[in-house]
Amino acid sequence: MARHLITSAIPYINGIKHLGNLVGSQLPADLFARYLRGRGHEVMFICATDEHGTPAELAAAKAGKDVADYCAEMHDVQAEIARGFRLSFDHFGRSSSAQNRALTQHFARVLAENGLIREVTEKQMYSVADGRFLPDRYIEGTCPNCGYESARGDQCDNCTKQLDPVDLINPHSVISGSTELEMRETKHLFLRQSAMKDKLADWIDSKADWPVLTTSIAKKWLNDGDGLQDRGITRDLSWGVPAQFDGAPWKGMEGKVFYVWFDAPIEYIAATQEWADKSGGDWARWWRTDKGAEDVTYTQFMGKDNVPFHTLSFPATILGSDEPWKLVDYIKSFNYLNYDGGQFSTSRGRGVFMDQALEILPSDYWRWWLLSHAPESADSEFTWENFQTSVNKDLADVLGNFVSRITKFTRSKFGEALPEGGTWGEREEALIAELTTRVREYERHMDDKEVRKAATELRAIWVAGNEYLQSAAPWTVFKTEPEQAAAQARLALNLIRLYAVLSAPFIPDATDTMLAAMQTEDRSWPTDVRAALEALPAGHAFTTPEVLFRKIADEEREDWQVRFAGKRE
Ligand code: 2FM
Ligand code: ZN
Repeated sequence: MARHLITSAIPYINGIKHLGNLVGSQLPADLFARYLRGRGHEVMFICATDEHGTPAELAAAKAGKDVADYCAEMHDVQAEIARGFRLSFDHFGRSSSAQNRALTQHFARVLAENGLIREVTEKQMYSVADGRFLPDRYIEGTCPNCGYESARGDQCDNCTKQLDPVDLINPHSVISGSTELEMRETKHLFLRQSAMKDKLADWIDSKADWPVLTTSIAKKWLNDGDGLQDRGITRDLSWGVPAQFDGAPWKGMEGKVFYVWFDAPIEYIAATQEWADKSGGDWARWWRTDKGAEDVTYTQFMGKDNVPFHTLSFPATILGSDEPWKLVDYIKSFNYLNYDGGQFSTSRGRGVFMDQALEILPSDYWRWWLLSHAPESADSEFTWENFQTSVNKDLADVLGNFVSRITKFTRSKFGEALPEGGTWGEREEALIAELTTRVREYERHMDDKEVRKAATELRAIWVAGNEYLQSAAPWTVFKTEPEQAAAQARLALNLIRLYAVLSAPFIPDATDTMLAAMQTEDRSWPTDVRAALEALPAGHAFTTPEVLFRKIADEEREDWQVRFAGKRE
């Protein structure tokens, strides 16, 4: 038994995430966590909400709420939706926790002691009316490129041009609307990432087994232009971890906080401390290599936009501390999921968001489609046609139909218990051989975090059962050799349990339904397929489940397509 630490990129607190966000981090992380637990390993699966920074402040202001209250509410909303999708976090933390505040300030102190932090004086937009410096997103004005009147200081949403606040025509404060803005000097702390460039390059070079998507992004940032830049780790904001050092003030940093990307990944550790404080568990054996974490395998899941922060910035914090913290062993990154010929858009309400998805169909339907179409080697696209086909074929026709057919047949001919008699012949031996090969392949893909390949193999495992049933045809055999039909039914009913166990990482609710129908809690992994197909003996009672997966009708698909197309602004 091994020990696995798994983290999913922590979603921003402002608003409910769409299916593209889900499939890029939390869902595949959950798949892997469930798989490893199913194999008997010890797993610590951590996620949290990313609560600091300008977007959180702005969203709270827009909702007319105090930012701390807003975050507390939204955390609960996100936690509830995560439960709806059956995301099996050991802890779903909050980056605004006391633990993260203390740990972030701790890292800042040791980095400073190691000579890796320097002060930089910069000029920044100051709003006299608001009495504060304004981050780029707090300044709006007319885009010099396209004339759009609500362009933000960092980017124009209309023409996508990257902007500097000084480029804007008629710039004004988003907070007060005031145009009384001036450039003033302000001091910030910079992490000297450039001093760690060689160390980081060697570390990344040593990761030959990482996905190309991960290493190519890391290397691009490492080698492009001037190489790894020093990075500002403080901001002129009030919401965040105060820029202090183990609680002690740092001169000149009064009223400033750490940059959200400095404290967010530290929350992976802090969330494990939150878990420990709540449960009485030991966080250090997961994170400190001097306290047992040298035996831990640590895997991170994230979308490709997060890769630079996880391959360079966060490791710079960890390595720069010179303390025995656990570094990530494997970074699984994802491309983007597009929506029906375009992009998901939060501002335009385009695409399916996590809460809406659960309103129209149970989570397994989404989990299966998203994981079996995960954007691994390239961006992928959600279309309603594809979703309908995949649900109706894979889940309803292949898996659902198998379960329904064999339970109904057995009930009608033998009653609701596994029937006795008969022996296995060539057909059964061939099935066992095929399944043995396929289950080993499935394990290999899951071990490699190859999500789509694992889904394809799992589907092939379901198909093999269907084909067996079709060609064995116990309903025909029953007429002349009822004992033989009994042996076939017994095997097929055992297959339901086998499918339940193998499918659990993808469709955990269906797993529960299948196990309940087979009246067993035996979730043991089929290391030996033959033995697994004999696990439930003759005489063992079962029930015939309700429809496992229903089909999506054309009219529903059309309605949903219109409903989620988004409003034009
Ligand atoms: O992109 C995002 O949604 C970020 N909130 C991810 C942060 S991951 C980490 F570093 F904590
Ligand atoms: Zn523009």
